[in-house]
Amino acid sequence: MKDILTELEDRRNDARLGGGQKRIDAQHGRGKLTARERIELLVDEGSFEEFDMFVTHRCTDFGMEKQKTAGDGVVTGWGTINGRMVYVFSQDFTVFGGSLSETHAQKICKIMDMAIQNGAPVIGINDSGGARIQEGVASLAGYAEVFQRNIMASGVVPQISVIMGPCAGGAVYSPAMTDFIFMVKDTSYMFVTGPDVVKTVTNEVVTAEELGGASTHTKKSSVADGAFENDVEAMAEVRRLVDFLPLNNREKPPVRPFFDSPERIETSLDTLIPDNPNTPYDMKELITKVADEGDFYEIQEDFAKNIITGFIRLEGQTVGVVANQPMVLAGCLDIDSSRKAARFVRFCDCFEIPILTLVDVPGFLPGTSQEYGGVIKHGAKLLFAYGEATVPKVTVITRKAYGGAYDVMASKHLRGDFNYAWPSAEIAVMGAKGATEIIHRADLGDSEKIAQHTKDYEDRFANPFVAAERGFIDEVIMPQSTRRRVSRAFASLRNKQLKNPWKKHDNIPL
Ligand code: HXC
Repeated sequence: MKDILTELEDRRNDARLGGGQKRIDAQHGRGKLTARERIELLVDEGSFEEFDMFVTHRCTDFGMEKQKTAGDGVVTGWGTINGRMVYVFSQDFTVFGGSLSETHAQKICKIMDMAIQNGAPVIGINDSGGARIQEGVASLAGYAEVFQRNIMASGVVPQISVIMGPCAGGAVYSPAMTDFIFMVKDTSYMFVTGPDVVKTVTNEVVTAEELGGASTHTKKSSVADGAFENDVEAMAEVRRLVDFLPLNNREKPPVRPFFDSPERIETSLDTLIPDNPNTPYDMKELITKVADEGDFYEIQEDFAKNIITGFIRLEGQTVGVVANQPMVLAGCLDIDSSRKAARFVRFCDCFEIPILTLVDVPGFLPGTSQEYGGVIKHGAKLLFAYGEATVPKVTVITRKAYGGAYDVMASKHLRGDFNYAWPSAEIAVMGAKGATEIIHRADLGDSEKIAQHTKDYEDRFANPFVAAERGFIDEVIMPQSTRRRVSRAFASLRNKQLKNPWKKHDNIPL
C-alpha cells in the first residue's frame, strides 16, 4: 500500500512540473507565473480541486508518442473566491507552448459542462500558441468544442478570460465569446495571426505589441476590457470582479456587508455642475460619491472614454453604472461609446444586475466619419439594449439630455423605473443656440432678436420641469441627496417582475 501511495505522490509531483524546470525558469524569466502559480493566486488558499491531472494526449504523429506530459498543457478544476465557487482552466505554456490538443480541449470542455450544470463562473487563463500543430484537425475540432460551450454558457454563467501570454488563432476566439477579457501589459498578445504572417500577406511590418498587445486591445480595438501590470495584479483584480457578479443567471448578485450609510449626504455634489453649461466636469466624481465606500470597478476604462461603464455597490448590492462623461467629447454618444455601453447593459441584464444611468449627453456625434461607420446601427444597439433590459433601471439626468440621446439613455419611455433629474437638467430636442438657428432662421441677421429667441428657448426648455410636468421625470432631486434617493429607488425594486414577450431570441442590430 505504501508503495502505491508513494507512486501517486511521485506521479503528482511529475505532473506539477509540467514541461520541466528549465521551461518553468524560462517562464519566470519572462516575468510570467506558471499555470499553477496563477491558480494559487486566483482562488482561496487550499480551495483548488484539480481534475484530469494525469490526462495525456493520444497523438502518434511526428514522434509525439514519446513526448507525453501528464495534464497535457492545461490545469483544470474548481475552487472558491471569497468562498464562492468558480471553475478554472489555466494553460501551461511549458507544455508545447500551452497549445491545444484534442485531450487538452476535452479537459476544458469537462469543466465548462460542469460550470453550466452547477451554475458557477468559468475563468480561463490563456497562455497558448493555439491549435497543437502536430494534431492537425483533431485540435481544430477541440477548439470548436470549446467555442460551442462558450456560446451555450453565455448568459448562463459569467465567463472571464485572462490573457497571460501569446494567444493566436483559436486561442483568441474562445476568449472573444466570453463576457470579459483582461490582459497583462507587455507579456500578453492576442491576434488572429502573428506579425510574420501579416508581413507575408499584407507586407505590413508590425511588432507583436503593436499588433495585439494590451495597449492595442484596451485602447484601439476594445477587444479587451482592461489591462494589468503583472500576473499578480491580474489575479487580484479578477477576484475583485468576481465579488460583484452572481454565480449564474438563476441567482442574484452577492450582497456584501457595507459600512457606508445609504443616507449619506454629499453637499459637494450641489456645486458639481459648473455655471457655464459648456464647461466639463468629471462624472466619475458623482459615481464614486454615490457608491458604497467609493468603490468603483471600471470596465473598458481606456476605450470610448465619453461613456463610463462599471460596477458599484449600493447597500451592499451590485449595481451596473453607465454614465456619460462630459470631460471627453462633451459626453456625446458615438459609435464606440454606444457599442461599449450596449454590451455592458446586456451583460447586466443577463445576470440580473440593476442599472444606474447617469446622463449628461448633448446628443449623437455628427459627421461623415460617424455616418459612414454606421452610427445609426451602432447607436441603435444601445437603444435596443436599454429597451429590452428588464432589470431595475434608475436614471439621473444631471445636465444635458438632448435629442435622441435623451430617449436612449434609459429614459422613462424605455421602461426606466425611476427617472430623476437634478435642478440643473436641460431636457430638450437640442441646445438653445442650435434650436434658435433652425426655428428662427429668418432672424439670423438680427443678433438682438436671436439673443431674445435663445433666451426664450432656454427659459422654456433648459430645465427639468417640462419633462416633470408630463411625468417623464418622476422627481427633481437635490444633487446632495443622490445616493440616498438612488439607494431607496433600487431597494424598492428588489422584487421587480418584468418579462418580455416570448421569442426564440431577439435580433439586436449587430
Ligand atoms: C505545438 C507549439 C505551438 C503549437 C508553440 N509550441 N506553439 N507546439 N503547437 N501551436 C511549442 C514550441 O514548439 C516550443 O516547444 C514551445 O511551445 C514554446 O514556443 P516558442 O516558439 O519557443 O516560444 P516563443 O518564442 O515565446 O513563441 C511563442 C509563440 C510561437 C508566439 C506562441 O510559438 C508561435 O508562433 N507558435 C505558433 C502559433 C500558431 O500559429 N498557432 C496556430 C494558430 S492556428 P519547445 O519544445 O521548444 O519548448 C489555430 C487554429 C484554430 O489556432 C482556429 C480556430 C478558429
